[in-house]
Amino acid sequence: MRRPLIAGNWKMNLSRTQCVALARQIASGLSDSPAVDVAVFPPAVYLDAVITANTGLKVGAQNVNENADGAFTGEVSCSMLQDLHASAVILGHSERRNLMGETSEQVNRKILAALKAGLTPIVCVGELLEQRQAGQTDQVVLEQCRISLAGLSAEQMQQTVIAYEPVWAIGTGQVATPAQAEEVHASIRQWLAKSFSPTTAAQVRILYGGSVKADNAGELLSQENIDGALVGGASLKAESFLGIIHATKAEKVA
Ligand code: 13P
Repeated sequence: MRRPLIAGNWKMNLSRTQCVALARQIASGLSDSPAVDVAVFPPAVYLDAVITANTGLKVGAQNVNENADGAFTGEVSCSMLQDLHASAVILGHSERRNLMGETSEQVNRKILAALKAGLTPIVCVGELLEQRQAGQTDQVVLEQCRISLAGLSAEQMQQTVIAYEPVWAIGTGQVATPAQAEEVHASIRQWLAKSFSPTTAAQVRILYGGSVKADNAGELLSQENIDGALVGGASLKAESFLGIIHATKAEKVA
């Protein structure tokens, strides 16, 4: 069975004190054996503070550079994240693809570097509104998967998490319907079965992201191929983030 994962992408928000306080509040709202993996992704400069607060939450970065070291001003390497004991990294988020011009080829190099460093990559894919309206959703998403996940072994694929985040649903309050999300998740899983193996496809966690809130999480998570959520805005408050975790438990850990 796939263990559900609820991940909070804090993006470029909060202060150092607020990050540590939020991680503590989230951790204290979880039971001892939560049955749901919970991870938070603070801004890079606050990773150390959140990790050393020792809350028991998994803590990861929002991006990483694919190179081992060298003249890459302003960038952070996988070994630096390892050094901090970060456990995961979000890669290919639509804000990086669309605002920073990150390509699937670059995302692929980052995934391979992260896996080599023992970091769990959470790889984001998703279509723009005009691509959905033009009936290109599957084509766009599967092409992003094909290029971003090229060259991974089945074992590496099993260690990787995919997040389907339709760009039109991010930060807009316009969440995908459970049926819309499930359709894309099922396509991704079929693609994984064909490209890797049915066993691998059955093991990979596919998260949904885009305007997930405590009051819509249950219905989304009730879908067979939705294994968790990547949450932006609603992860910035312990109450709403915990609400999503509790809704997940109710659906997936009956
Ligand atoms: P929102 O939950 O704010 O729509 O953001 C989703 C997201 O981009 C998570 O990575």
